[in-house]
Amino acid sequence: MSNAIALCRLDELEDPGSKGFEVRGQRLFAVRQGQQVYVYRNSCPHRGIPLEWVPDQFLDRSGRLIQCASHGALFLPESGECVAGPCSGASLTPIPCRLADGQLWLSALPQG
Ligand code: FES
Repeated sequence: MSNAIALCRLDELEDPGSKGFEVRGQRLFAVRQGQQVYVYRNSCPHRGIPLEWVPDQFLDRSGRLIQCASHGALFLPESGECVAGPCSGASLTPIPCRLADGQLWLSALPQG
C-alpha cells in the first residue's frame, strides 16, 4: 500500500459522525456508521459546492443520512445516492478507502 494515504484513525471519528479533510488540494469527507466508514468528495451534485456549513457536520439530525446544508439534499452513507432533495437520483463521488489496524486509508485519490 505504498500509494495509500493515511486519512485518520477510526477512533477520531464519532459514531455516527463525520469529518472533513483536505488532501492534496481536494476537499473530502468521511462518514462513520458503526465499524463502516465511507469517504466522498465534498461536492454536492446539485451545485458542485461543499456540503457543510458547520465544520465536520455532514450528517442530518438522525446521524443516518448525509445532508447538504445548502438545500437539504439527503444521501445514503453507504452508496452516496441522493434519496431526497433537488438532486434526487444523483450521487456523491466515492473515494476508495479501507480500514486497517484502526486506521482509515485512501487507496487512491482520483484526479481533482
Ligand atoms: S447545493 Fe447541495 S442541495 Fe443544493
